Amino acid sequence: MTVVRELVKRLIAENPVMVFSKSYCPYCVRTKDLFDDLNTTYKAVELNDHDKGVEIQEELKSLTGQRTVPNVFIHGRHIGGFDALTNANEAGKLKEYLEQNPNL
Ligand SMILES: *[C@@H]1O[C@H](CO)[C@@H](O)[C@H](O)[C@H]1NC(C)=O
Repeated sequence: MTVVRELVKRLIAENPVMVFSKSYCPYCVRTKDLFDDLNTTYKAVELNDHDKGVEIQEELKSLTGQRTVPNVFIHGRHIGGFDALTNANEAGKLKEYLEQNPNL
């Protein structure tokens, strides 16, 4: 496995809520605001501030088929971007995803 692939997999595995983001992207800001509103702790990696940001974005594309940010994972589950996240929230699914503890 490449170093970048290992890094991406580790970030997704170690953080219950993982947001791959770019600091200037409006939907990334809204995604982080949504988690703040839900009082949900998340880990964000800003790809534009990361020295491996381009490689991470490529890795996310090959892992999820999604190149765009935000790219959100909850307990290792790929959620997608802001639309997928708000849809899940409005459908009442997001709470369920957040409460799922894969270790149980
Ligand atoms: C988040 O926490 C604040 C302050 O404790 C509280 O007022 C608010 O209702 C909480 N929001 C949710 C969605 O739990």
